[in-house]
Amino acid sequence: MEQRLKEIRQHVLDQLKEVRETAGLEQIRVSALGKKGDLTGILRSMGSVPADQRPKIGQMVNDVRQTLESAIEARQKELRRAEKELRLKSEAIDVTMPRPERSAGSLHPMNIALEKMIEVFVGMGYEVVEGPEVEFDHYNFELLNIPKNHPARDAQDTFYVDDNIVLRTHTSPVQARIMTTRKPPIRIICPGRVYRADEADATHSPVFHQMEGLVIDENITMGDLKGTLDEFARQMFGQGISTRFRPSFFPFTEPSAEVDLTCANCRGEGCRMCKGTGWIEVLGAGMVNPHVLEMCGIDPKKYSGFAFGMGVERMALLKYNIPNLRYLYENDLRFLTQYR
Ligand code: DAH
Repeated sequence: MEQRLKEIRQHVLDQLKEVRETAGLEQIRVSALGKKGDLTGILRSMGSVPADQRPKIGQMVNDVRQTLESAIEARQKELRRAEKELRLKSEAIDVTMPRPERSAGSLHPMNIALEKMIEVFVGMGYEVVEGPEVEFDHYNFELLNIPKNHPARDAQDTFYVDDNIVLRTHTSPVQARIMTTRKPPIRIICPGRVYRADEADATHSPVFHQMEGLVIDENITMGDLKGTLDEFARQMFGQGISTRFRPSFFPFTEPSAEVDLTCANCRGEGCRMCKGTGWIEVLGAGMVNPHVLEMCGIDPKKYSGFAFGMGVERMALLKYNIPNLRYLYENDLRFLTQYR
């Protein structure tokens, strides 16, 4: 029995020398000291030991157990330390290493153009106002003097939600909303998304953006409108760019004008972009129709005003010389990241 105990002890100590991982330690512990382990086996067979020898053998078993337990513990500490060292080494970070490049993102060219447009008008004292994209027929058409049988209401152009509600076809309904709720002086711009049942092509999209402008006060004239748009053109596109008014018709303005900008490409000389005219059509404008003022609760004998509406995408295309509207919607990073 004594011999057997010595063997067990030596065997375990040998194993401890060889084991290289803490995981292996547990196996050694179980096979020596566990319930079915060698040492426990000896205790079980104490029955066959003569009674007078039992205390001595029992004492020996306990000694061996203690020796082995502390040997295992010591080895465990050693191995843990080694494993930790190894892990720290493998996880070490070289803080001097250059990091991989990260793309920072950039504003969409249309938003850059819109921000510039807003900046110009805010600089002239305008307030930015927004309205709903799902709009009442009343504001989108009726209050703007677009009667029930007007071609602009044709279902081909307008997305109807129901008989009284549409996806707004322009930002002009925000004018009507403001005129019915505020007293002059009014000086606002209204940027936002608009919807038309158009097929998408190089110059059309069923969803696009407009920016509306409205000024109402005493003694506002067409000269104020012209001066304002000229200043906008100069700030937006640079020195030497101005506007040209051509007579036109909108139900909500009288008189009305189509407004052209000096072609920024040829500076008015005439080129392919402006089809040789030196001018590019960019927006609609006019003096707010007195009938519209009246419907919105503003006295046309006391007040007058001008309004204009421009396409934001169109401004971006012109500003950055982009040949096709589709580029703005395709979200190709190679295109988008050129504009910052
Ligand atoms: N609402 C017009 C459109 O979508 C643009 C427009 C023209 C707005 C003349 C105006 C204006 O405020 O006076 O085509």
